[in-house]
Amino acid sequence: MAICKRCPEKRADNMDGTRNTHNDDRLSRPAAYFLIRLLVLLLFLPVMQACQQERPASGQTDGEKNVMAAAPVHQRDPLQGLKRYLGYCFICHGQKGDGNGPYASMLSAKPADFTDSTYFMAKTDGELYDFISKGGIAHGKSMHMKPFGFQLTADEIQSTVDYIRVLNRHERISRGEGSGFSGEEIYRNSCVMCHGEKGAGDGRVSKMLNLTVKPMTEETLSGFSGAKLYNIIQDGIPSDTTGAGKYMPAWGTSLSEQEIIDVISYISTFR
Ligand code: HEC
Ligand code: HEC
Repeated sequence: MAICKRCPEKRADNMDGTRNTHNDDRLSRPAAYFLIRLLVLLLFLPVMQACQQERPASGQTDGEKNVMAAAPVHQRDPLQGLKRYLGYCFICHGQKGDGNGPYASMLSAKPADFTDSTYFMAKTDGELYDFISKGGIAHGKSMHMKPFGFQLTADEIQSTVDYIRVLNRHERISRGEGSGFSGEEIYRNSCVMCHGEKGAGDGRVSKMLNLTVKPMTEETLSGFSGAKLYNIIQDGIPSDTTGAGKYMPAWGTSLSEQEIIDVISYISTFR
């Protein structure tokens, strides 16, 4: 704020011709005077811009838990939202957002169906943010919907709201080569919760669901052709399969062709 106060002062100094005359002896020529004004302007342009930017920036830090303040400066980035969604939400809400995630059948309440546009269009971004941040119990709803405010930053929560909006509109994010994550990032975002850090099949969700997931090793993976691996990841394993396989989701709607190839290269490094 102290810097900002200087802006009007300095401008007043420059506009007041008489005040400057005492140190103006060598600069009395109009060209030199113009040069000085230009210099002062150039010097203070960044300060003036900073003054203008200060208000929204401080609004964001003060209101870290307050969406209303954060919303206007948040950069909408559904791709980041997708990343969070796959990491924290899809397990209950499902890849397509229809509330049929692999963990949904274990819960006493059905996870919200984000494809229900009528229901969600009636809610503001602020309401969704508040629900995700404080969780179900705080809103008189199911305890299975945890408060994510402890786990995720304000910006991360806001990005899941952005992605819920994509699902509300029944859209897909087009994921060109340039936008993508590395094979390792994709694995960490979307696979590690079931297949585990090193592909041993001991991820958090596998434990929750009590699944026995075959480890992904050089031997087990070499039993599949590249095309077969691609198809399993793209289409999942049919839901009428007996055993754990039916929990393997189809990734064709959320991963691009290149990303599936990249994640295959990554899982091929497991030994
Ligand atoms: C363990 C399962 C589970 C996880 C993980 C989960 N949810 Fe939920 N969620 C639920 C359930 C169950 C409900 C329905 C609550 C009810 O209606 O009582 C729900 C409801 C919601 C709602 C609906 C609020 C409303 O107004 O009806 C939103 C929004 C939501 N979840 C967002 C998220 C986001 C974003 C994530 C990830 C950061 C997430 N959920 C992760 C189980 C989960
Ligand atoms: C919700 C849990 C879950 C998630 C998330 C998941 N998988 Fe799976 N996946 C499984 C299960 C269960 C199987 C079947 C394992 C078995 O037959 O023992 C499987 C099988 C596979 C197979 C076949 C190889 C084998 O050992 O049977 C591949 C390849 C695979 N998953 C890759 C992936 C990739 C890549 C991702 C992330 C993009 C992913 N999976 C995410 C649960 C999951």
